[in-house]
Amino acid sequence: MSAVREHFGSRLGFILAAAGSAVGIGNLVAFPVAATKSGGGAFLLVYALFVFLICLPVMMAELALGRRSDRDPVGAYRQLSGGSHLWRIPGWLALITPFMIAIFYLVVTVWILGYLIGTLRGNLDQLATEAYFLQFINSPVVFFYLVLLMFGINGILALGVKDGIERAAKTLMPMLFVMLLGLVIFVLTRENAALGLKYYLIPDFAKLNGEVVSKAMAQAFFSLSLGMGIMITYGSYMKKQDSVPGSARAVAITDTLVAFTAGLLILPSVFHFNPQIDPAELSDSSAGMIFLFLPKIFLALQDSVGYAGASAVAAVFFFLVLVAAVTSLVSIIEVPLATLRDEYCMSRKKAIYTVGLVQFVLAIGCAVSFGMADWLTQFVQLAGENKSFFDLVEIIFYDTILPLNGLLVCLFVIYKWKKINFDQELQIGDPGFAGSLSQKYINFSLGTFIPLILLLIFINTVALKFF
Ligand code: PFF
Repeated sequence: MSAVREHFGSRLGFILAAAGSAVGIGNLVAFPVAATKSGGGAFLLVYALFVFLICLPVMMAELALGRRSDRDPVGAYRQLSGGSHLWRIPGWLALITPFMIAIFYLVVTVWILGYLIGTLRGNLDQLATEAYFLQFINSPVVFFYLVLLMFGINGILALGVKDGIERAAKTLMPMLFVMLLGLVIFVLTRENAALGLKYYLIPDFAKLNGEVVSKAMAQAFFSLSLGMGIMITYGSYMKKQDSVPGSARAVAITDTLVAFTAGLLILPSVFHFNPQIDPAELSDSSAGMIFLFLPKIFLALQDSVGYAGASAVAAVFFFLVLVAAVTSLVSIIEVPLATLRDEYCMSRKKAIYTVGLVQFVLAIGCAVSFGMADWLTQFVQLAGENKSFFDLVEIIFYDTILPLNGLLVCLFVIYKWKKINFDQELQIGDPGFAGSLSQKYINFSLGTFIPLILLLIFINTVALKFF
């Protein structure tokens, strides 16, 4: 174990760092599009219910595990299970999952960085052509941007929890809020903006079905950075006297507000570009929207604000997404670093080199699996379809293992670590919590229907993606 454990310097620092983790590419693009295509306000309502009734208790469970054990996920499960061999498995899963999710997320972030630089160099007109994307992701410059990005992220991590992660969150998150609000105000004053709001906000309950509901659940779970060991690790850096429920609520509210606000940006822009558009045509994937669709929208702004103005708006947008992605990557890469430090007594520096090197090699594997390397492009056959190495990492670790990890957290906290210990941890800094309705709800739900819902999502994904 490392000699002195680092901690966040303040409650606000923790909240901003955890919100930085939660606010990511998913919030800014995938969420608004999913909402618009799946019932507008009706989706928003279902999503909010999932965030506050299902995901929030899981977040509290993860934070409590980390704070009580003062350890990384592997150490937390080992210590709080009293050394059980069986319960080591979820600990290792909560390490491998973030390690691998970071790989494909790094690649997408590299593309964002490339698009930001492209826009700043005055190439928005090129970015707005679909052919550009394929050409860009298959060009060697991607490796250069990967090195640049990894240096930046690991540079923040090298400074430690308080001077690195917390300080970066305190600078970047307010910047993100300001850029987001600025862009929202700009697009809301464009022509036809209200049309977009109509699709985004007016509820259409007829669109809600099993698939939409499970999509909302998966989106909420991913958005709050659950099942990735992140909240266990950040929980271990929380101050001992801070309230876990209060801080978790603040993180969930911030994340949801940012996702909601992003909708006020994306949808009005789409409808300003083309008032006749059918929202069903919008791409489900964040990457499809960010790289193939949105650049066209930004370019079209040149009619009202000129080419330079349109490029400036696009640059602010790509920078906004980059900031959101970087603060998420910082949190996810911190998980394996914490394990190497806590379990293998490595120095932070040595851990950064070790993790960074392996992730660099794997990220290259993902980056070249779009055509540059044939065998990685057609890596495996799943459910009768050819999948690339990138797809495989995403399907296994993001789609499938995430809900499984969440399920294991719930079972562990309630049935192995035991409610009484969990309750004690939640009451610190929040004396009113003991005996409250909220406490009863959290205990009951985490031991019953939340793991059941996560189990159903897990089974459904396995059936859908692998067979
Ligand atoms: N909440 C993040 C998002 O919505 O993008 C989830 C996440 C993904 C966190 C990848 C960290 C990360 F590296």
